[in-house]
Amino acid sequence: MSKTILTVTDLKKCYGPVEVLHGVDFAVDAGERVALMGPSGSGKSTLLNCLSGIERWEHGQIRIDGFDLGQADRGGLERLRRESIGYIFQAFHLLPTLSAYENVELPGQLIGMSAAERRRRVTELLEAVGLGHRAGHRPDALSGGERQRVALARAVMHRPRLILADEPTGSLDSVAGAQVLNLLKQLSADHGIALLLVTHDPATAEICDRTVHMRDGRIEETP
Ligand SMILES: Nc1ncnc2c1ncn2[C@@H]1O[C@H](COP(=O)(O)OP(=O)(O)OP(=O)(O)O)[C@@H](O)[C@H]1O
Ligand SMILES: [Mg+2]
Repeated sequence: MSKTILTVTDLKKCYGPVEVLHGVDFAVDAGERVALMGPSGSGKSTLLNCLSGIERWEHGQIRIDGFDLGQADRGGLERLRRESIGYIFQAFHLLPTLSAYENVELPGQLIGMSAAERRRRVTELLEAVGLGHRAGHRPDALSGGERQRVALARAVMHRPRLILADEPTGSLDSVAGAQVLNLLKQLSADHGIALLLVTHDPATAEICDRTVHMRDGRIEETP
């Protein structure tokens, strides 16, 4: 029996008077890669923002790694974000004053990893994404594809059980995008990390085990 890492039950979310998620139900197994596709405005980013604790919701339940997000206080939510989840966004969100090395190291510091383990792991991850030789560079001295590979290394630094990725290759050309996707798949497979990947691109969805379609704030039933 496979263990479920993420369960969303009848999730409803409003912006002001407008309901944009109308009762979302779905689940992701441990280590499973799921693509989330659907038209612009269908609620994909809103759903991811609820899952990552950036947005609150009005109705329904989210459980990540056995943890009920709706019941969590600020400290509990912060801990979950630090320990169990990794994030990758369209626009890298790297800290501009830190080097590639320091950006990747940060999540390890936040969970209290020892200095020796951090050094070993940052070095290993930067090598894995092909950026060992760029460790000392700040984000503004890296290409878009290189920045996103740093963001990838950072997202798995603290050994999360789930990665949430919102169009991670949306701002990259096709070559850099393919490289980032292959690395994302490899890191997920090597470390048994589940992945929820928002994308508009059917080719991108192919790195996943299955695809879930969203339309008008609902998950569409697959026939
Ligand atoms: N902060 C906000 N305030 C009010 N309405 C919002 C806000 N964010 C999103 N919406 C609305 O919620 C709906 C869902 O938006 P969302 O960004 O989740 O769509 P999406 O599926 O991610 O689209 P895209 O593929 O274009 O990124 C849209 O109608 C959008 O206008
Ligand atoms: Mg979006």
